[in-house]
Amino acid sequence: MNDVRQRLSMDKDWLFHLGEVNVPVNKSHNSIYGKAKAGGVVGPAGMEWNDATWQTVQLPHDWSYQQPFDRENGVPNFGFKPRGIGWYRKKFRLAAEDQGKHLMLEFDGIATGASVYLNGSLLERNFSAYTSFTVDISDRAYYGDRPNVLAIRVDATEAEGWWYEGAGIYRHVWLTTTMPLHIAERGVWVRPEKINDRIWQTHIETIVSNDMEHDLSFTLTTYIQNEKNEVVQKASIESSCAAGSKNTIVQQLDVSNPALWDIDTPHLYQVNSVLTIDRQHYDTVVTSFGYRTIRICPDQGFFLNEQPLKLKGTCNHQDHAGVGVALPDVLQEYRIRRLKEMGSNAYRAAHHNPTPELLDICDRLGMLVMDENRNFESSREGLLQLENMVTRDRNHPCVVFYSLFNEELHQGTPVGRRMVKRMMRTVKRLDPTRPILGALNGGVMEDEGTADILEITGFNYMHTSYDKFKAKHPAQPIIGSETVSAFSTRGNYANDSIKQVFDSYDREKAPWGATVREAWQAVAARDFVMGTFVWTGFDYRGEPTPYEWPSINTHFGIMDTCGFPKDAYYLYQAFWLNEPILHMLPHWNWRGREGQPIKVMTHTNCEEVSLYVNGQFISREHVDLYKQLEWEVPYEPGIVRMEGYNNGKLVKVTEVVTTGETTSLRLEAQKPYLDGDGKDAIVINMYAIDAQQRFVPTDSRFVTFTLIGSGKILGVGNGDPNCHEPDAAQARSLFAGCCQLIVQSIPGSDPIVLLAEADGLAPMTWVIPVKEAAEPSHIASVKETYVNDWHVTQEPYIVRPDPLMIMDPTDMNTWEKVDVSYGALNMLRGIRGYVVFRSQLFLSSQIRSSASLHFNEIQGDVEIYADTELLLAASLVEPTSLEIPLREVDLKGKKVITLSVLVHITEQMSKPGISSSVCLLA
Ligand code: GAL
Repeated sequence: MNDVRQRLSMDKDWLFHLGEVNVPVNKSHNSIYGKAKAGGVVGPAGMEWNDATWQTVQLPHDWSYQQPFDRENGVPNFGFKPRGIGWYRKKFRLAAEDQGKHLMLEFDGIATGASVYLNGSLLERNFSAYTSFTVDISDRAYYGDRPNVLAIRVDATEAEGWWYEGAGIYRHVWLTTTMPLHIAERGVWVRPEKINDRIWQTHIETIVSNDMEHDLSFTLTTYIQNEKNEVVQKASIESSCAAGSKNTIVQQLDVSNPALWDIDTPHLYQVNSVLTIDRQHYDTVVTSFGYRTIRICPDQGFFLNEQPLKLKGTCNHQDHAGVGVALPDVLQEYRIRRLKEMGSNAYRAAHHNPTPELLDICDRLGMLVMDENRNFESSREGLLQLENMVTRDRNHPCVVFYSLFNEELHQGTPVGRRMVKRMMRTVKRLDPTRPILGALNGGVMEDEGTADILEITGFNYMHTSYDKFKAKHPAQPIIGSETVSAFSTRGNYANDSIKQVFDSYDREKAPWGATVREAWQAVAARDFVMGTFVWTGFDYRGEPTPYEWPSINTHFGIMDTCGFPKDAYYLYQAFWLNEPILHMLPHWNWRGREGQPIKVMTHTNCEEVSLYVNGQFISREHVDLYKQLEWEVPYEPGIVRMEGYNNGKLVKVTEVVTTGETTSLRLEAQKPYLDGDGKDAIVINMYAIDAQQRFVPTDSRFVTFTLIGSGKILGVGNGDPNCHEPDAAQARSLFAGCCQLIVQSIPGSDPIVLLAEADGLAPMTWVIPVKEAAEPSHIASVKETYVNDWHVTQEPYIVRPDPLMIMDPTDMNTWEKVDVSYGALNMLRGIRGYVVFRSQLFLSSQIRSSASLHFNEIQGDVEIYADTELLLAASLVEPTSLEIPLREVDLKGKKVITLSVLVHITEQMSKPGISSSVCLLA
């Protein structure tokens, strides 16, 4: 036995059906009896189902955003997009050598309720869109030639949240194969502990699982490796595991002076856990982790590596323009980078567990994460969801808080208090190292509520209550778990309730919220408030507060749904970055408004700013960071110039210029090339520019894209909260001068040529190189139609029976369900007589007249019928491979054909009857 751990992507080529599939009800006893057996599920969840007309889709997949906006039946909170029910099927083969191994399907997340069926058996039900879950398929899988049928019914009719949640298998799916003796799922937990200035004790718990029927002794060797892959520590331990059980092994490895994980220098280490028996390799698991300390103090807030760190965070949901919640991994990275560039150091996964890839990226880029639980319940299921979050995420150095809830009805009641106590115990048992909070909006002053028993009290809004609460609970740490909720529309400078847009002067806010300046001032002025989590970093679909239709997403974001910065972005930069920031708003393209006053404003951290209009000095003013400067300037086209001074010295100049008409588009790609692996993606931003290459912030023309080469447009967006153009499209209008494309590679290396055409502009093309790259290891889908669901008559007939006799497949007294793909049936060996095999062949409308039926191996005197038509009669003395053209059969309009195979067998035959797979070659 070798080290066989393999983690293969299951994302490729699923068949998808939108809507419920109604299966005719069979009320007979036999049918009900048969369905109640393992493998007996019928319909789209079962083995045999005509899915030939289903759509082929790739994961991650969100069907909701791809539907048209539906004002009538849609819900504002969900962005007026339908959700409902969908079905997925994937047929795949496993190597014959996999039999006896341990096979685990891993689902990163399915929105919302998922029922997972394999080979006609319901194996798992999952209830939350945000929990990752696994399904052990070792027993139920077919190995070798016979394909497996994985069917998933996704029920997204009920929502878990009040925002756009998407629908479908919107995160990745994996298949992990290991030896029966292996490191268990989520079986490695690394917990570094600082002992003194030099030494870090690395506590490592490894769970070894033995699926064998006998006890096994093994060696576990644990290596700690640094970023250069140098082994910095190593320990081996001999142990054993009883048959069918698990063994938890605890090791402690001292590491001196590790490079610390920090937000600016996020050094990562790896634990390599290697399992051997007699030096033979059984399993290796690689776990990434980091050395860092966190500490919270009621008076001084949060400390990372013993340095005080004000948390400059944003709250975010998961969706992005163009793709709904089905984000390629690089898009997650794009979003986190944008936030970091703004000066943000913390991310609240509101209000749910993020996708695991997001945490990998936050580890890598140095972004702290508040990991949040979705469903506030201390029921069995509620605690399972919570445990799921902690055991999945506790190795990530980026995760620094667990949040139990957001604004719960019971936040201030004794019921909530009891629930929180139990939930905190559950988290602490699994991870005692991270502080636990709840995000309250109200209820903080109640004595029998949750506020004072949480390790941190999260304040959603209520910034005027920080001091009152602090006075009552001086020892209780406080965080601004949700702040701001201000409204602004990118590139817009006047409120308009008809157009449903907001200005960008940081004055519009929700009644419960605050402006950017008010909220940050309240946090910045108080050391005891650990930090802020602004609602929200990015606009998101749904919850279109305060307007509804035609608004389909929010106005809360510091950036829009594409990640294009609104003016507020620069205000945060002014607050959060240490370098001089000087941003001016608005733009200076106000044709037709000549002579009218335009409000000009700074977003700056400079001490003083001078303003010039077309070279004429207007004034030089001292800046109050929380007020900023404003002027009323009569509009005249030209140049508005701002000069920023610190200590009297000029440190920054910003000019905003009246541009000419748009003459072309500028393409800005997230990276220089795409990997042609069929997975990699790239964000492409398009900007209207004039003849002098200056950005034209007022253009809204419609642009059509054509793409050739090894890529495809996954989706498009423009950040307009009132735009109803489709996202899964090849065209988009600009909004305030910009639009965005998300392009994904398709396997190959042909350079991508992107053509853009728009009214009034000459066609433009760009080339994006595609580098040859291997497709990630994955499980391919089987495309042929296999006929595997055979029954055979139980007793041989002495006299030739009618091969077309009526059959009830669930009549287990007459018919036996058999698996022909495993070889000849023992029940037929050494006997003489007639048997009838029976199955059904489901046909698609695309079937060609040249279609044929392929029997891999069959032996005996055979008569093969399609419905009542005899296709072939032959005497096959040896096991024989047959290919039978179906041209004689009238296939027109038929959805299903009954296959009957009468075989006369004799005692001498080596493989009597059908002894291998049967498939339709269409
Ligand atoms: C909060 C809530 C968020 C969002 C926000 C809008 O109360 O936690 O999910 O709804 O309001 O301002």
